[in-house]
Amino acid sequence: MSSVLRVEGGKPLHGTISVRGAKNFVPKAMVASLLGETPTVLRNVPQIRDVDVVNELLTAHGVKVSYDQGAGILELDPSSVELAARSDIDALSGSSRIPILFCGPLLHRLGEAFIPELGGCNLGGRPIDYHLETLRRFGASVDKRPEGVYITAPRGLHGTVIELPYPSVGATEQTLLTAVQAEGITTLEGAAVEPEIMDLINVLQKMGAVISVDIDRTIRIEGVEKLKGVVHTALPDRIEAASWGAAALATHGDLFVQGAEQPDMTTFLNTFRKVGGEFEVKDDGIRFYHPGGKLKPIVLETNVHPGFMTDWQQPLVVALTQAEGLSLVHETVYENRFGFVNALRKMGANIQLYKECVGGVPCRFGQRNFLHSAVIQGPTPLHAADITVPDLRGGFSHLIAALAAEGVSHVAGIDMISRGYEHFLSKLRRLNASVEYVGQD
Ligand code: EPU
Repeated sequence: MSSVLRVEGGKPLHGTISVRGAKNFVPKAMVASLLGETPTVLRNVPQIRDVDVVNELLTAHGVKVSYDQGAGILELDPSSVELAARSDIDALSGSSRIPILFCGPLLHRLGEAFIPELGGCNLGGRPIDYHLETLRRFGASVDKRPEGVYITAPRGLHGTVIELPYPSVGATEQTLLTAVQAEGITTLEGAAVEPEIMDLINVLQKMGAVISVDIDRTIRIEGVEKLKGVVHTALPDRIEAASWGAAALATHGDLFVQGAEQPDMTTFLNTFRKVGGEFEVKDDGIRFYHPGGKLKPIVLETNVHPGFMTDWQQPLVVALTQAEGLSLVHETVYENRFGFVNALRKMGANIQLYKECVGGVPCRFGQRNFLHSAVIQGPTPLHAADITVPDLRGGFSHLIAALAAEGVSHVAGIDMISRGYEHFLSKLRRLNASVEYVGQD
């Protein structure tokens, strides 16, 4: 059962809200704390479901967790790490993708790890082959069984050379979290270099790790014997900030996102401006607004950093339904990230999906049967509808569409959004939105 939200749309969002630490960084820094000999303190921690899940997993592994949710301060004491009871791990199976990143730290601490069925959004197959191959390269044994994956390292973990077939965020983090205490030097080629990964490197370096990053996506890690706990303030959530920016554009609004920072959002801001949105970068955040006039169509391709993030795509597509003309959006990171457009079509959007790569550059999905390109014909006024949230970012996009549409929409499955958007309902109310829970679906 999940809650249904009644949204009375057609009103611009106005006001100030704030974002805290990045969903795609904080849980990884929490996992890194397992490697320290002393407690780690994380600041700017958002109150989101993914943080709760990792707290529960760490607690199950003997970490003492103390969490001041209001202040966003999390203290993790890993001095008594132990194997978790299978029932505790199973209780969390399917709730997050983070458990896969426990492998390296648990192998170092305990010599074994168990990975349950993973959760996260359904955006395609989301295989873990790079992760398992990476662990094997370090010398781990991987035993896949129906209930999960058992991993052991009877002879310890040793530095190695890894070449990723695609710059995967998770596999890069897996390598970092394993290599920092593996014996010898690890070279990772084809690494992802997202800002959230750079902040994880900041944490590991503070803990005592030796890591260098070259401009050609090569990361070198010299294994060290001991790491210590640290105090670290998480970088802000650039996906949440961009989502609010897209909401401002789609609703003809004007909002200030306190805590948003320009450097990691350059690509989004360029695109936002090309579409016709305006922004103002201030010391403590970014103001996003619709300046009036017509929005412009664009050709957009999602990509790994420093490209346009796949996670920015879904919220922006809602605004593109209001642009004058044809927009082309080519999704190159996930093969199946356009399921959310069905609801937008129901609300009046004119969006066609294609298996071919639209735009300039063919991607690895081009010769396969995936609807990974979208052609959006705008502007199409959106009208209210009853819709169901498909995944985290798609769900926020539905919310934006309902806020932009004239009339009353009912958005089911709304709880999914709290996985990655802190206090989104109270933020919406602060922005003058008419939203209220009306029951369960
Ligand atoms: N891939 C493989 N094999 C693997 C790992 C990845 O084929 O073993 C493929 C994936 O299927 C995908 C591509 O590589 O097509 C990229 O996946 P990546 O590993 O980079 O993604 P991830 O680590 O699973 C993180 C974020 C995602 C974000 C992506 C890309 C977290 C918890 N998740 O996922 O965030 O979209 O990186 O930036 O950090 C979200 O926040 O809504 C979200 C989905």
